[in-house]
Amino acid sequence: MLLDNRNIVITGASRGIGASTARLCAQHGARVAVNYMASQAAAEAIVTEITDAGGTAVAIGADVRDEEQVARMAEEAEKALGPIDSLVINASISFPMLPFMEYPWADFAAKVTGEMQAAFHCARAFVPGMLERKQGNIVAVSSGLSKQAGFGFCAHSTAKAALNALVRSMALELSPSGIRVNTVSPGLTITDATSHVPDEQKKMISGMTPLRRNGLPEDIAGVILMMLSEETRFVTGGYIPVDGGMTML
Ligand SMILES: NC(=O)c1ccc[n+]([C@@H]2O[C@H](COP(=O)([O-])OP(=O)(O)OC[C@H]3O[C@@H](n4cnc5c(N)ncnc54)[C@H](OP(=O)(O)O)[C@@H]3O)[C@@H](O)[C@H]2O)c1
Repeated sequence: MLLDNRNIVITGASRGIGASTARLCAQHGARVAVNYMASQAAAEAIVTEITDAGGTAVAIGADVRDEEQVARMAEEAEKALGPIDSLVINASISFPMLPFMEYPWADFAAKVTGEMQAAFHCARAFVPGMLERKQGNIVAVSSGLSKQAGFGFCAHSTAKAALNALVRSMALELSPSGIRVNTVSPGLTITDATSHVPDEQKKMISGMTPLRRNGLPEDIAGVILMMLSEETRFVTGGYIPVDGGMTML
């Protein structure tokens, strides 16, 4: 029980990495707010799974790019669970995959701004309570593409590199007040977000991966769990790749 008695908000937890993280955190004793944007039924199914197993969870709809919706989510989460001590910034801000020379500025700007809004508004909504209690934990889900280029991924790479920078800044400023902030950085992981990737390409990536397979949502959730737990209490501003060894520091 690594998260006994903890209250955690996970953005984008109706599916994929966020859903696995919600399940695992609940298995480790946390009360969990399962945020979603459109998939209410999927989010409620995760909540039912958790409550059926004896845990506590609540589904909260909010577009995390929208400051007002995030403020309402924070209110609802605190009302349902109590003071929130941990936040997982995970929601997947969608984007078209296009070469740089064909990328419409509006789509590029929407991805970079959306990624920043999702992190900025959520952190700003929950950090004040963490500061009051002098205790908090934030994990942001970045991507290996924040440090590497990938064809068609210029907006995603830029947005996730900006997220890494924001995490470092928050870690520097908030850690003296007892709030740890870290980045967990998946490589290719089998979720809806990668369902468009041809099987051949997934196979090629698994062949290049030292651990010889593609990532699964549970692989990422395990590392998020560790970063949220007290076992990593002396780690802040960290960038933890979870990619089967594709990135070696
Ligand atoms: N999968 C990969 O290969 C991979 C690799 C590196 C990094 N990542 C990162 O891992 C994180 C999770 O990705 P995933 O693959 O698990 O995605 P996913 O399976 O496609 O799920 C996306 C989740 O984000 C939610 N979401 C999307 N836009 C939102 C918004 N504006 N407000 C609130 N929730 C929103 C979705 O909610 P609805 O269901 O309601 O739409 C859903 O719960 C993302 O930050 C992604 O960039 C993924």
